[in-house]
Amino acid sequence: MSTTGKVRIAAVADLHCRLGRKDNFRRLVRAINEQSADIVLLGGDLTDHGHPDEAKVLAESLSELFPPIVAVLGNHDLDCGKRHEVVEILGSAGITILDGDRYKKKGGLIGVAGVKGFAGGFGRQALQPFGEEAIKAFVMETIQESLALEGALSRTEGAIKIALTHYAPTASTCVGESPEIMPFLGSSKLGEAIDAQEVAIAFHGHAHHGTLRGTTPAGRPVFNVALPVLRRIHPDRRALIVDVPLPPGVEREELPPVVESTAIEYVSLEEEKEVAARPLLQ
Ligand SMILES: [Fe+2]
Ligand SMILES: [Fe+2]
Repeated sequence: MSTTGKVRIAAVADLHCRLGRKDNFRRLVRAINEQSADIVLLGGDLTDHGHPDEAKVLAESLSELFPPIVAVLGNHDLDCGKRHEVVEILGSAGITILDGDRYKKKGGLIGVAGVKGFAGGFGRQALQPFGEEAIKAFVMETIQESLALEGALSRTEGAIKIALTHYAPTASTCVGESPEIMPFLGSSKLGEAIDAQEVAIAFHGHAHHGTLRGTTPAGRPVFNVALPVLRRIHPDRRALIVDVPLPPGVEREELPPVVESTAIEYVSLEEEKEVAARPLLQ
């Protein structure tokens, strides 16, 4: 099988940075920097309450993380009502916050579209815009976030197109959570937006007790990179590293091998596809 190379993505979500927690992220920074990732993705709930002082702690903690760093905010980042300040502080530290917009890495290999997303539930159990105005307003927020994601994805260029959200775009990565809170973990409308575009891979957080791997209804790979999910795989896990094969005809230099470390979970999408394609009786 001929390959033309890969891009390497480092992703994590739900850092929930609090005051006085700077040292917590030293190993995260070291683990990611060791892997020569092309891009670092942060999937929201970067701070615990969205307080500007928490954002300052995080900005300082991640100051040695190799760029580019692209992020979305989560519900916790909005708790204090200081969104603008939080975005400014993280932005001044070199972190690009996406909210219905997109990021393209120089060289055209990687394009990322990001939104926070919203709740609403999945499939036939999703909340419908019926009855009270409050319910309609809730569902409208879900629809707007999904449309913002689809719009950003449609404008995103790059050989590898990535969707980044905080809320889950599929129930498959929420498996493990209590059924009672499923409707608050995400929306399949986000998954529909992903399936409407040529997305290679999607990342999210928010579902702390969910599952690492899942797919959209059309089978696109989705990873729940909430830090507690990674830590459940191994107490040392700090980030997910994914190698995504480039489409045929797109060339680049081969990446160095992954540095073995208990601080990372590593996935090669190319190898996963080969395993999936192998006949069962061989
Ligand atoms: Fe969280
Ligand atoms: Fe969250």
